[in-house]
Amino acid sequence: MSIMFPLAIILLLLLLVVGGVSYAHLENVFGIFIPYLALAIFLMGFIYRILSWAKSPVPFRITTVCGQEKSLDWIKANRLESPFTTLDVIKRMALEVLLFRSLFRNTNTELKEGPKVIHWSAKWLWLAGLAFHWALLIILLRHLRFFIEPVPFAVDLIDRLDTLFAIGVPALCLTDVVIVAAITHLFLRRVLVPKIRYISLPADYFPLFLLLSIIGSGMLMRHIYKVDLIKVKELALSLVSFRPVIPEGIGVIFYVHLFFVCLLIAYFPFSKLMHLGGVFLSPTRNLANNNRAKRHTNPWNYPVKVHTYAEYEDEFREKMKTAAIPVDKE
Ligand code: HEM
Repeated sequence: MSIMFPLAIILLLLLLVVGGVSYAHLENVFGIFIPYLALAIFLMGFIYRILSWAKSPVPFRITTVCGQEKSLDWIKANRLESPFTTLDVIKRMALEVLLFRSLFRNTNTELKEGPKVIHWSAKWLWLAGLAFHWALLIILLRHLRFFIEPVPFAVDLIDRLDTLFAIGVPALCLTDVVIVAAITHLFLRRVLVPKIRYISLPADYFPLFLLLSIIGSGMLMRHIYKVDLIKVKELALSLVSFRPVIPEGIGVIFYVHLFFVCLLIAYFPFSKLMHLGGVFLSPTRNLANNNRAKRHTNPWNYPVKVHTYAEYEDEFREKMKTAAIPVDKE
């Protein structure tokens, strides 16, 4: 059930866009209206979520540490595992965001006969996760060639490196192979490992299917149902300059690709994909563990209005006595 539901949604939406463009000629809707709407939803949703996290009170420093904190001079501190300054926090965060360092230390635990508990290092999730995110970043950077004229040298260089092995015409991009393999691993892990399947929800499968649909339609467009890339660029440039025009005759596969991208963008702020922003606002990660060196007081420690027991008794003494409740003061 949790797999079939998101799959059915993707198929229905596919029919919607193919029908809309092929039969009803709704290129304006799928090429202009929906992209702008999706971007507006993304921006408003993203800002709203970030602001609501940023506004949440963090009364204590709750840094996650797994190493010796800075203490007396003769005790060796581990500044990465227990960051003491903001610079230490930045270093640890950079390793986390760029290399998924905490996931690298992932372990699996199993109860064997005996009974005996065994733990082992589990690196596949780290590898597939890292490969997926880096490949996605490179694909997005390569796409900048549609939105910037002239194409910047760095974007062109990334494109050339990605097609270095020149397999086929147009050349197969290495990142496409990597991202398909990585997402397949992430999906199979969810369906094949019983414990993970048990905790997986439609909201876990949907982003995977959506990304696969985007990548699948992109690869189909590059290698099989080719579209006129000059016209695609014309549309992309017109969209970013807020003077949108739809060039005639871009194949329907392009609108499928673009529609799924819009869906991903609009869905982003309301989904688990918000970890992109959330990781930086996580108090366990973004605070220095300097509690012993510095006294932290609540910035919002205003005088709180209190109602003491004595006042309470004064207010209700007669009623308490009537109800035979003992009172402190007669
Ligand atoms: C989340 C955003 C997007 C992702 C993940 C994505 C992914 C992909 C992938 C994996 C491919 C296969 C070939 C390649 O890697 O270059 C592709 C191709 C393509 N994408 Fe996207 N795409 C995205 C957004 C867009 C947008 C906004 C446009 C609109 C201009 C677009 C237009 C194209 C075109 C025209 C191709 C064919 C490229 C060629 O023939 O060389 N994509 N996309």
